[in-house]
Amino acid sequence: MSDKFEKKILCIGAGYVGGPTMAVIAQKCPQYKVHIVDINADRINAWNSDELPIYEPGLDEVVKEARGRNLFFSTDVEAGIEEADIIFVSVNTPTKTYGVGAGKASDLQYWEKTARSIVKASKANKIIVEKSTLPVRTAEAMERVLNANDKGLKFEVLSNPEFLAEGTAIKDLHNPDRVLIGSMETEEGRKARQTMVDIYANWVPKERIITSNVWSAELSKLVANAFLAQRISSINAISALCEKTHADVQEVAFAIGTDSRIGSKFLNASVGFGGSCFKKDVLNLVYIAESNGLPEVANYWEAVITMNEYQEDRFVKQMISAMFNTIAGKKIALFGFAFKKDTSDTRESPAIHVARQLADENAQVTVSDPKALKNAKNDLADLKNISYEQDPYESAKGAHAVAIVTEWDLYKTLDYQKIYDSMEKPAMIFDGRNILDHQKLFGIGFNVYRIGKPAMTHFDQI
Ligand SMILES: NC(=O)c1ccc[n+]([C@@H]2O[C@H](COP(=O)([O-])OP(=O)(O)OC[C@H]3O[C@@H](n4cnc5c(N)ncnc54)[C@H](O)[C@@H]3O)[C@@H](O)[C@H]2O)c1
Repeated sequence: MSDKFEKKILCIGAGYVGGPTMAVIAQKCPQYKVHIVDINADRINAWNSDELPIYEPGLDEVVKEARGRNLFFSTDVEAGIEEADIIFVSVNTPTKTYGVGAGKASDLQYWEKTARSIVKASKANKIIVEKSTLPVRTAEAMERVLNANDKGLKFEVLSNPEFLAEGTAIKDLHNPDRVLIGSMETEEGRKARQTMVDIYANWVPKERIITSNVWSAELSKLVANAFLAQRISSINAISALCEKTHADVQEVAFAIGTDSRIGSKFLNASVGFGGSCFKKDVLNLVYIAESNGLPEVANYWEAVITMNEYQEDRFVKQMISAMFNTIAGKKIALFGFAFKKDTSDTRESPAIHVARQLADENAQVTVSDPKALKNAKNDLADLKNISYEQDPYESAKGAHAVAIVTEWDLYKTLDYQKIYDSMEKPAMIFDGRNILDHQKLFGIGFNVYRIGKPAMTHFDQI
């Protein structure tokens, strides 16, 4: 029955990347069969239900359109491999926590297991596409594992790193800045690369489909994330200096961002960056530089991470110092837990660090978030003095302080007079994302603490 399809595409790994990317390929290319498999049965069940396992604006509609038509989710990895012409691998590649390279290198165990399953279940030649973010030259190792088979099969490994950002994944996939496809510079490699170009050409303008050698493609993804993280750490470093000098970080960011060589994006000072990728990919780059005997290059990039940790710490220290150096027993409401707005993802969220530090000081922390409370509960499962409250008004009742940790639009439109009236006095607000109307809050009576701007308080700072 499935023979009516022009191509059979499989994706191994139904996570934040595999799910949305494949759903969009299926939506845009009804002539292909797109099958997504995962070893996590709960995740697959959720993909087949009305409550998808991840929150992403626009994702529900895309999945509803294609699911059952040419988009299928299952746990049958072997059958999926056997029938596919093209296999995308989008499994997780977290930072290694053990052995050589622990704390920096990528843990490739899931990737290699997948490669071995592919060899085992294959009965014909296939194109294998690296969708996961991988260290440069992984494709070489993968080709060795895949092509060391005794069935006479040939696998062509391509790198097609994913540049989507969570929170705007569907928009990014529908209208990408670019799609990057790397292959070996051999005749077979270029042929496989053309097959991939043809898939994306169904909806992506030709000039945005970039081809390169496989090593450039692998490295470009790590470098893109490293550059983005570096911009955030750069402006965060300047935010600390602004607070000392009474410059205003938003004015500085605006002034420098109008320079077309610099640009305005990723210049928002904040409590710090999070997400599953930035830290892991920058550390991986650090590790690769170290492994190649380039300690200065490694130190340069490692400082991006050090700066981010400093910024998270600084935020908590400012809270404690503003609250008269003791927060034991005080209720503190955290507004937001996701690592950024419009996602349920909390991996490496600065909120985790903030909540943990506050809890360590024996504060009574209440966490609120429109989409991420389930993940927050898992992240903080071992802590006792934490409660969870979907409604921000309830969450702020009786609190000494509110801290904005995620920039959800919802928090800009709350009735802060109502929140102020329900809080203990003096009421403090810590805007870790600089998204609120600070003058207005100050007028209501709040003591307002911002990133990279002087605090606005109704009493002299101690
Ligand atoms: N999250 C992002 O914004 C983003 C963006 C671009 C690239 N990436 C990269 O994409 C990759 C995947 O990231 P993610 O956020 O989707 O991760 P994820 O953890 O959400 O998803 C990975 C999935 O792979 C599954 N899996 C692991 N081993 C498997 C196996 N042997 N067989 C079948 N399924 C298996 C897991 O069960 C999980 O559901 C990573 O390399 C990441 O760096 C992520």
